[in-house]
Amino acid sequence: MFEVLARQPDDPLLALIGLYGADARAGKVDLGVGVYRDETGATPIFRAVKAAERRLVETQPTKAYVGPEGDPVFLDRLWTLTAGEAGRGRETAALQTPGGSGALRIAADLMARTGTRRVWLGLPSWPNHAAILKAAGLEVATYPFFDVPAQMVLFDRMMEALSGAAAGDGVLLHASCHNPTGANLDADQWRAVSELIAARGLLPLVDIAYQGYGRGLDEDAAGLRTLLDIVPEALVAVSCSKSFGLYRERTGAVYATCGDAQTALVVRGHFAGLARVSYSMPPDHGSAVVSTILGDPALAADWKEELEAMRRRIVSIRERLAAGLSRRWQVLTAVAGQEGMFSLLPFEEAGVMKLRAEHAIYMPASGRINIAGLKSAEVDTVVEKFLSL
Ligand code: LMR
Repeated sequence: MFEVLARQPDDPLLALIGLYGADARAGKVDLGVGVYRDETGATPIFRAVKAAERRLVETQPTKAYVGPEGDPVFLDRLWTLTAGEAGRGRETAALQTPGGSGALRIAADLMARTGTRRVWLGLPSWPNHAAILKAAGLEVATYPFFDVPAQMVLFDRMMEALSGAAAGDGVLLHASCHNPTGANLDADQWRAVSELIAARGLLPLVDIAYQGYGRGLDEDAAGLRTLLDIVPEALVAVSCSKSFGLYRERTGAVYATCGDAQTALVVRGHFAGLARVSYSMPPDHGSAVVSTILGDPALAADWKEELEAMRRRIVSIRERLAAGLSRRWQVLTAVAGQEGMFSLLPFEEAGVMKLRAEHAIYMPASGRINIAGLKSAEVDTVVEKFLSL
């Protein structure tokens, strides 16, 4: 039977992990997959995560199933962190999911069940966005979001495209720290797009995966919170991979804000049903860690402090990188004002391959760089190699 299957291409982003690992050259630089690294190149476990894990080892009473919805205490605490005041008092259905990707898939499946046939996606986007939407049977409609050579958000074109969307269409938005461009909407633009979404009866799905890495925990959720205040219904996919450094624990959640309690109850049933026929019950270790941290003021304060230090490190690398690159490409001063781990540099694929082959600098063919993969000591050399393209 299996002989009928066609060979699948490797996921280009994940394939980079293997290519980088297999490169024996000293001084190689990994600007590939979106994982935070410190000045030694390590992806640290947050101090608060370690402390919460120790506490769980001592006190967790059972490993019995938590049920398809997951732990309501975790879901409440994470929602408060994400939605803040905008979430308070809202009728919301919630589901603990295997990471942010699991949340996106459940959201896409739910959209399909509501009769949504088409979802609008700004380009460029994280490649898995379109793949997940399509896997859920949804059609993907695209519009230009970012002009790479000009390093500029194409807000007017985005609004123009969404003005042509039909009622019931979905719209996928990045809350902040846009992947792959690092370019975000400002407060007025969030308000304008939220009003358009409400006026046209569109269903927004917001992906929030890098909260705390851009301008700060609340700042990175501000646009999402504006949207939640304006639109009657929304889906929100939350990842704890980066914000809590829990990548491999697959920790996340999906939320649906609903018009009333009865609707929220019905959506909750669909969430649980979708989970049941997919992975049945969510993994719990990472969620228990997050819930422990957010429920303990001392652990929460320590987690915020460590996250803020990571954010500052990225900002300082961004500034140095932007200053160096703007010596040749004036437009790349914009890199300093972009947010989160990523920027999308205007490199041709041949240039990316040259950097990889000649200088052991790794990034995806698109020219996206993970700034968190760069150590301070490497910035000047990497800038020189970029300038030599
Ligand atoms: C990335 O974009 O590098 C991360 O979100 C990792 C992934 O799953 O692609």
